[in-house]
Amino acid sequence: MMNKFAPTALKISAPCKVHLLGEHAVVYGKPAILTTVNLRLTITLEPLPSSIARDDLIDPDLEKLKQVIEPIVKIYSKINKIPPYKIKVESQIPIGSGLGSSAAISACYIAVLLNFLKVKCDINTLNGLVYEAEKVFHGNPSGADNATIVFGESIWYRKESADLKLIHLLPFSIPSKLADNFILINTGKPQETTKDMVLLVKDLYEKKPKIVNAFLENQERLVRNLLDVLKNEDEKEFIRIIREGEKNLESIGVCSPQVKKLIREIEKAGGAAKICGAGGKTKATGIVLAYHKDKKMIEKIAKENGLNYFTAALGVEGLRQG
Ligand code: PMV
Repeated sequence: MMNKFAPTALKISAPCKVHLLGEHAVVYGKPAILTTVNLRLTITLEPLPSSIARDDLIDPDLEKLKQVIEPIVKIYSKINKIPPYKIKVESQIPIGSGLGSSAAISACYIAVLLNFLKVKCDINTLNGLVYEAEKVFHGNPSGADNATIVFGESIWYRKESADLKLIHLLPFSIPSKLADNFILINTGKPQETTKDMVLLVKDLYEKKPKIVNAFLENQERLVRNLLDVLKNEDEKEFIRIIREGEKNLESIGVCSPQVKKLIREIEKAGGAAKICGAGGKTKATGIVLAYHKDKKMIEKIAKENGLNYFTAALGVEGLRQG
């Protein structure tokens, strides 16, 4: 893969991502298709005079992040003492809503800090460092979020083993016929974290392996079908796969009753919708990806449910300067 981010820049941005399909199953080594979304997070680093006591300078909200990121950077760079600096974070990405905000912030922070320290790092290694941060935040992540955000565009992702992850850029872009009729509905921040939801599925796997095995098989079949559908711009099949994929996610309990109701409304109106990412079991599930050949129909449903929604370009550039 090409290194797209400038190795000297002190201002770095990253997009967010959605799972077109394959979330949760991807934790168990099944393939997933993800795409970047054009809402970006930017970190700007300002070097400070060495006379300044640096511990007073980090915004308390960023303290936890600093405690995760700096040790990762120190180990990689073999630098024990990082000179004083200040960072500013600007973000268009809703937090904790299935858009990979944690991977975006970690990716920008690690890249900008390495640039500040003038430590070289190729993009594959950088992606590995972001994965280390994701492990701290999410327990046992698949690595799909960080790979999408770092490399950009749309990817086919499969975790073959702890050390081998297949990250393949899709050889075609998402057809405009499909990309133009999406909206992303924000159902709100879930009460449960990604870590909670991944553990919920793990627990179900231990108690009811048949249910989770059926889920995994279906999800793999649907993700493979989706690849053909995206290539062939087959709208009818696209709707069928998104609907079936959502039902399959519901079978493992990652979609709350209130969001199921919203999704059924969208389906009844002729569209399709699915949770994106970890989901939630009690109330909100974060972002719902909704599709209809007449987008106004789903915009109307979102409005009637009092939910914010937005559209954004898909398949955009990953980590980059500025
Ligand atoms: O909700 P997010 O953006 O954190 O996505 C989580 C996706 C999962 O498949 C549920 C977990 C993972 O590590 O891939």
